[in-house]
Amino acid sequence: MRKKIIAGNWKMNILPSETEALVKAVAEATKDYAGKVDIVCCTPAIDVPAAVNAAKGTAVEIGAENCHWKASGAYTGEISTGMLLDAGAKYVIIGHSERRQYFGETDETVNLRSRAAIAAGLTAIVCVGETLEEREAGKLNEVIDRQMKLGLKDYTVADCEKLVIAYEPVWAIGTGKTATPDQAQEVHALIRAILVELFGSETAETVRIQYGGSMKPSNAAELLAKKDIDGGLIGGAALKAEDFAGIIAAAAQ
Ligand code: PGA
Repeated sequence: MRKKIIAGNWKMNILPSETEALVKAVAEATKDYAGKVDIVCCTPAIDVPAAVNAAKGTAVEIGAENCHWKASGAYTGEISTGMLLDAGAKYVIIGHSERRQYFGETDETVNLRSRAAIAAGLTAIVCVGETLEEREAGKLNEVIDRQMKLGLKDYTVADCEKLVIAYEPVWAIGTGKTATPDQAQEVHALIRAILVELFGSETAETVRIQYGGSMKPSNAAELLAKKDIDGGLIGGAALKAEDFAGIIAAAAQ
């Protein structure tokens, strides 16, 4: 049985001065599910220290939203894996569609960033997902296959212990449109099959695959009931402790 993992993606919301209150509210609202579900808040890098501090002694773990692949050096504006670890982060989101869309993230840089994160000891949440145009043009399988194989190029079986995949159809992110449980399960099964192809079935069975895209308390249970949906990557609903806790409650069922 794969343990469910619900991760909030705060995106570019929540000030450092607002961080402690939100993390504490999440910890309080989800304390009954501690140990049953992995609970993660991925925050802007500047919020990580406050988030880590607020999460101390609770089941909430903290992650970031991106990292660079070099250990240090002249990379103005970037954040290294060592910086995240030093601040107490355990997770990092890599290759979110907003980074692919607005910041030139490619499958190659997803590969570099995620391998560096895993080598450093972070758990990488690697995001994949098709745009509406790609889906309508019948390219869904091709896009997922490419993102998975290039994104996970040169991964070892051991690397998969620190890997979470997030399937996020771009057309469902922040739009209020959710993939139906069947639509999501179909792609999760495809992702699982690609993992089998890459790493063998034993390893593929251990990798958790989150769904992301307008997941909320009212639709979480039916999505999370699907065989290959092992959690959620939550944007909007992660900004309110009670909504986030509602999703975690569904994952604990
Ligand atoms: P959403 O975002 O839940 O607001 O759709 C999900 C994400 O982008 O990770």
